[in-house]
Amino acid sequence: MADNSSSLTVPHVVRREDYRPPDWLVPDIALDFDLDAAATRVHATLSVTRNGDHDRPLKLDGDGLLPLEIRVDGNPVAADLWSMDSGALVIALPDAVHIVETLVEIAPQDNSKLMGLYASGGLLCTQCEAEGFRRITFFPDRPDVLSRYSVRMAADKALYPVLLANGDPVEQGELPGGRHWARWNDPFPKPCYLFALVAGDLACNADRFVTMSGREVQLGIWVREADLPRTAHAMQALRNSMAWDERVYGREYDLDVFNIVAVADFNFGAMENKGLNIFNSRYILADPETATDIDYDGVEGVVAHEYFHNWSGNRVTCRDWFQLSLKEGFTVFRDQNFSADMGSHAVKRIEDVRILRAAQFQEDSGPLAHPVRPESYMEISNFYTATIYNKGAELIRMMALMLGPERFRAGTDLYFDRHDGEAATCEDFVRAMEEGGEIDLGQFRLWYEQAGTPHVRALLTHDPVARSVTLLLEQTVPPTPGQPEKRPMAIPLRTALFDPETGENRGDELLMLTEARQSFTFQGWTAAPILSINRGFSAPVIVETNRSQADLAFLSAHDDDPFARYEAMQQLMVNVLVGRIGGQAVDEDAVIAAIRNAATDPLLDPAFVAEAIRLPSEAYLGDQMAVVDPDAIHAARDALQRRIGAELEPLWRDIHARTRANAFALSSVAKGARKLRNTALLYLAASGAVDGPTVAFGQFSEADNMTERQAALATLANGTSAEREAALDIFYNRYRDDALTLDKWFQTQAFAFHPDTVDLVEELGRHKDFTLTNPNRVRALYGAFAGNQWAFHHPSGKGYRLVADCIIALDKLNPQTAARLVPPLGRWKRFDEPRAALMRAELQRILLEPGLSKDVTEQVSKSLE
Ligand code: PHE
Ligand code: ZN
Repeated sequence: MADNSSSLTVPHVVRREDYRPPDWLVPDIALDFDLDAAATRVHATLSVTRNGDHDRPLKLDGDGLLPLEIRVDGNPVAADLWSMDSGALVIALPDAVHIVETLVEIAPQDNSKLMGLYASGGLLCTQCEAEGFRRITFFPDRPDVLSRYSVRMAADKALYPVLLANGDPVEQGELPGGRHWARWNDPFPKPCYLFALVAGDLACNADRFVTMSGREVQLGIWVREADLPRTAHAMQALRNSMAWDERVYGREYDLDVFNIVAVADFNFGAMENKGLNIFNSRYILADPETATDIDYDGVEGVVAHEYFHNWSGNRVTCRDWFQLSLKEGFTVFRDQNFSADMGSHAVKRIEDVRILRAAQFQEDSGPLAHPVRPESYMEISNFYTATIYNKGAELIRMMALMLGPERFRAGTDLYFDRHDGEAATCEDFVRAMEEGGEIDLGQFRLWYEQAGTPHVRALLTHDPVARSVTLLLEQTVPPTPGQPEKRPMAIPLRTALFDPETGENRGDELLMLTEARQSFTFQGWTAAPILSINRGFSAPVIVETNRSQADLAFLSAHDDDPFARYEAMQQLMVNVLVGRIGGQAVDEDAVIAAIRNAATDPLLDPAFVAEAIRLPSEAYLGDQMAVVDPDAIHAARDALQRRIGAELEPLWRDIHARTRANAFALSSVAKGARKLRNTALLYLAASGAVDGPTVAFGQFSEADNMTERQAALATLANGTSAEREAALDIFYNRYRDDALTLDKWFQTQAFAFHPDTVDLVEELGRHKDFTLTNPNRVRALYGAFAGNQWAFHHPSGKGYRLVADCIIALDKLNPQTAARLVPPLGRWKRFDEPRAALMRAELQRILLEPGLSKDVTEQVSKSLE
């Protein structure tokens, strides 16, 4: 199979407005796999029915496939009745109902794109979303064609003792020559992107779950034998997710088995195939020796996410790929709330907003900005974005806020009941919210159509004579590619006013900003109140206010909304840092006092404190500037960090000593203590205290868990001490045979604030343990590096060249993963002209590469516009 055969020189643009229902439906499909890593034969039997009154032929998508046999109703098809059209098989059919059979041969071991059927560490597994099924067999590869699947697999029994597919196992048996077979049936009609099979030598963590109606479900998490001890957390997360979806959404699991398989080579996080989720092993395996608390939370969140797709995605699926956020935005919203319920709502919200700002706001202000429901694409794989996922989740969150919990639940009940078994649209979801929740979402729909992050200016003015205050709100939505003009959005802003004398919050209100400019007046204020706005981050917007540093300091100490309190603290820091970068005189003492207050407040959750006292990232500071100056940002942030370290040194020593645990626990309390401890270590190291590296190395050596070990390593990696090299060597030698943990070794170095990071990354790219064939390894090195603003934007342009070289080399193997490295280079308009020119030159160099995939072509050409 020629792997790049689908690459087109002029990529075809798919448009939402061109949607037409399918010409042919496929109510049933039987697949017969004769599995072998070098040559797998796939025999497909499709029952096809003409959809509507037309005479168009049957078109079965294919990518790199050759039909070895074609039969219609049992008979070979005459040569003049079929043809190939850009990979697809076209067959003229006389009647309304037929049985169509095809036979193809594919080579899983040569499949480096990791789409379709591929080999990963001795396993054979599939990935079909979005358009991978057409690399396995000829089929109408679109999500609005739903079929019942019956799957038979035959394979060598020694190499592949376990054979799994969607649905329920029905039969199995032995074959001559050391082979065996199994058949699985999935009774629920599904689009082909949810098809999956796995064959391999796997061990099972088996458990059970009794659903709310009393049915017993067999749960299985399948991994390599040696990894079994690392599956307990994923299993607990699965059982918690199943119970949570019953309790919160009334949704019960529907098959007798639910299987999860972990694979080492995977393009994304995980995949929600019906009854057979396939995971990147980093989101299944966790133990204290190798997983950080962030990894544990990642496992819990992704297991939940994929499980929740069983309703939001599988039972109700998407009509076309423009509706991707219908399942992804909603499912992210569901997994965020689940994780909040499992831990701290406040900290989870802060983390989610940090991710949104780091990934989605950047996307929304760059050349790849697109609406939550896009209008066109060249390659759908490029649209698995922070906008579709995270901004999509914020849209659902805003609707849930406007409706309130009961009416939101009425809306989701109506949505699931009305569209069960269907391929639906974002519009269907909004309509269900309107009807079930009894609300008009007319103007709100703009959130699906308009790209770009809205800016809101909030000006509070006090009239002491009238004893009133007026809040003037103005919104603008910046132009984005293809959308020069924007209309005003419906923006829900949770707002409160604080009495400056008593410190009291006089009541939370949901203000709906619906016009470009709008005023709200509040009576009964003798003194000017302090404004708390966009509490809980009620809308995904950028808010600019006329609040003073004193107001922000007040809120950072007194706001009773934890997000708003965190936000006030961050804004206080941003103002000081941006002022410092701009050469203004700034009052750093206010920041230091606010940090001291938070870090010594015994009533605050340590996990919250750790978030609140952390300086905003270099990238976030860049977002606040007209032209990003990576060196000035780094210098200013680093200087403030040192000063905070030095002035509060005894406090950091005290916290670091006090949060030391005797034994590892995974409780929220223990996790919070570790998070605060690691932050204290960071500041202690920044203080310049001579024993900084010794303390960090001590934590590195003594830790009984990866959270503290990796944080100590990262702290050391920022410096130039002898302990830095020692710790990196120890870490490497301890984990060289554990791929997921070795990723941390690459990632920590790529992410370090070290003057030589760019050269180190170049060296690491030639390290014997570096490989382009494993997406996790590529992301650990080049993905982390491209997110290290100071290092990546090295004025020499060397960082750009390294990433461009990686994109070019990786594109030949795995275009999907290569394309995901393009956005950092595409942000050239945000930088000074010398850097912008260097970035553009690398983009142009990539575009000249012969045989470039449509994945990379789309991202690079859009980035150059
Ligand atoms: N649908 C998957 C999820 O979000 C993501 C995914 C997309 C995985 C494409 C693989 C390929 O749960
Ligand atoms: Zn998803």
